[in-house]
Formats: sequence, C-alpha cells, structure tokens
Amino acid sequence: MGEMIDAGGTRVRSGGGYGESLFEPEHPREAERIDAAALVFDPFTTRRLRALGVGPGLRCLEVGAGTGTIVRWLLETAGVEEVVALDRDTEALALVDDRRLRVLTADIADERLHPGTFDLMHARFVLMHLPDRRRLVSRLAGWLNPGGLLVLGDAVELPDVLDTSSPYRRTMDAMWQALRSTIGTDISAVPAYPRFLREEGLRNVGAEAFCPPLVPGGPLALFWSETLSRMRPALEATGRVDADVVEQALTYLSSPRLAELGPGMAMAWGQRE
Ligand SMILES: C[S@@+](CC[C@H](N)C(=O)[O-])C[C@H]1O[C@@H](n2cnc3c(N)ncnc32)[C@H](O)[C@@H]1O
Repeated sequence: MGEMIDAGGTRVRSGGGYGESLFEPEHPREAERIDAAALVFDPFTTRRLRALGVGPGLRCLEVGAGTGTIVRWLLETAGVEEVVALDRDTEALALVDDRRLRVLTADIADERLHPGTFDLMHARFVLMHLPDRRRLVSRLAGWLNPGGLLVLGDAVELPDVLDTSSPYRRTMDAMWQALRSTIGTDISAVPAYPRFLREEGLRNVGAEAFCPPLVPGGPLALFWSETLSRMRPALEATGRVDADVVEQALTYLSSPRLAELGPGMAMAWGQRE
C-alpha cells in the first residue's frame, strides 16, 4: 500500500492491486512496457477522439494517464484547454512541461476523490484492472459537464478456441487467470461498456474494437513478451502452465512463425445530455 495526495491535498492510503503485486511502477522496464502498448493503440484512440470532436476549448480528465502519450496528444495535437492527468503513479508525467497540464497523483477508486467536472474523460486499460468498475463508470459519468464525453478503452480478446493446447494459448489463458487472481483484472465486462454508458443516461453511445496483428519484433509482441516474462511465477502458480510451456510461448512470440489475432482494444463512448 502506498500514500497519495488526493484532489483536496489530503494524504490518503492507496489501494493495493495494479502496481504493487505484478507491475511495480519502479520496475526499470515498466514505462517501456506501457509505452509499447500505447504506441500500437494511440492511433486508434486518437482517431476516435478526433472523430468525436475533441479539440480546443475542452477541459479533460485522463484517468490512469500512464506515460502520458494521450495527455501529450490532447495538449499538443488536439489543442485542448486543460488536461488533468490522474494516475496512482505520476512520475513519468513530470516530463510533460505544459502550463495547461495538472498532474493528480490519486487512486481513481478512492470515493473521496472529486477532481471537478469535465468535457472529456478518457480511461484506457485502467478500468479492466479495477474492482467495482461498474461503480467507477457511474462516478466518472457523474463528473461530465453537459455535452461532455466519456470514452473508455479496455482489452478484448478473440482467442483461437479451436486450438486451446498451444503454448501461446495456454500461457495467455494462464495470464488472464493470474491477472484476475492477483490484480483483479477482468476483461469480461468490456463488451458491456456501451450498456453501462446507456444506463448512465448518456446519449450518442457508440463502440468499436481493434485487434492489431501480433507481428514478430513488433511493439505488441514485445509488450506481451515483457508482460509474460515478468509474470512467470504468477503464471506457474495458476497450475495451467509450467516453466517449459511459458518458455515455448515466449520463443513463439519472438519467432517468424508468430501469427495470432492477439488481444486488442474495445472503445465505448457516450455523451452527457
Ligand atoms: C496499463 S496502464 C495504461 C496507461 C495508459 N492509460 C495507456 O493506455 O497507455 C494502467 C495505468 O493505470 C494506472 N492505475 C492503475 N490503477 C489505478 C488506480 N486505482 N488509480 C489511478 N491510476 C491507476 C497505472 O499506474 C498505470 O499508469
């Protein structure tokens, strides 16, 4: 458990989970790992944000801002008015030098958090890691200004269920199980996000999904290799794979034979009346 400063400047205890059991923020390759995924998904995210009209004049909240690639895009390319970049670990955001940026070190799940109201709120690869994500969608929707947009992006996977015995498939299945039992990650609710947004009374609800190819040597293959390598003990602890199976999966991920419809991202969005 760590300590954080909430929006009101009060010291609070952060929840355990994401950063403390598997992906420690201080790990020398953690920023690189997050950046590898960001590199792949940023074009999809920014194309959608653009299509939704994100541009000058907007007050934005980036939830779980990570290394800040979307924060930079909002400020430098979209030219928004202000960005509040919220993360439980904001070290990487110190590199973004812009007077329109407010960095908020906080736990989004902290019920005492009231960061203000926004014209755009975006959370990518964050809610899937957090418990009670349905409640979080509701809290986020409550921070929308009239006409404001809530945009959620999280992982989806279309696994090859006709071959569940390959080392890659077995290792990925072990990974989702290990993420669920250690961090609480669960992607099963992601297809329900459009419904969640409708239930919050938002209009113009839409959704789409992308599954970029897993290419040998590509950023996504590197992201999964790094993720699986770091998770070895947790993978074996599931009882689904042993060290040999994980090794075979890692070899496959860096081999020219690699051909998979890897995990992708679904985005869902809605607008306050
Ligand atoms: C997988 S990374 C995604 C980063 C970024 N959104 C992106 O797509 O590149 C998840 C991020 O959420 C942050 N995070 C996890 N749990 C959090 C929480 N409870 N409150 C705030 N941030 C959290 C992590 O520190 C990390 O930066």
